[in-house]
Amino acid sequence: MSDDTTTTETLTRRNFLTSATFVAAAAACVACGNCIVAEAAAPPKPGAPAAGGGFKPVPGEYDVGPFSAFLKAPNGVVVDKFAKAPSGFLLVVNEGKVYALTSVCTHKGEQVKAMDGGKQAICPKHDSVFDLDGTPAPVTPDGDKTPARKPLARHGISVNKKGNLVVDTNVTIEFEKRDQEGAFVELKKPAAGGAKKKA
Ligand code: FES
Repeated sequence: MSDDTTTTETLTRRNFLTSATFVAAAAACVACGNCIVAEAAAPPKPGAPAAGGGFKPVPGEYDVGPFSAFLKAPNGVVVDKFAKAPSGFLLVVNEGKVYALTSVCTHKGEQVKAMDGGKQAICPKHDSVFDLDGTPAPVTPDGDKTPARKPLARHGISVNKKGNLVVDTNVTIEFEKRDQEGAFVELKKPAAGGAKKKA
């Protein structure tokens, strides 16, 4: 549970809002004052998300801020504030859902980031482009065959007792199972009596 974890990184609100690829349209998404702490629950362990090069995310539970803030987010945007290690994921708001894609490229494990104003993502190492679903585009921006052949997997995501959105990178959900429970959180106001929250 993120409530019991040790804080390993603190992201200031200023840094968050000045992230080069955190588009203005997405600022309303995670821009409130309580959403600034990323937490890692566990040290790296064997079998962690594959990473190549110097990119080594640390599996753990990461609190990305109040879920209510995401209700105001624009549709169709990739936010890469948590793309770097230790967190290693992209947040996507799309079609009434918020979910987390791994930012570990499926080609050779380099870091994927947002591009095109957050409308899609790219791995700059060899220019593999991924859509909002994590699916690789057939060709790179230069028209070459995209080296990444597999889509980006998702990580577990839920709302904790505080009402914050938590991404669990210990949990990897393959693209084919992206519609299963725990692979996304619907962007709708909690029903009377409270949202369905992680125990
Ligand atoms: S490592 Fe990402 S495109 Fe090659």
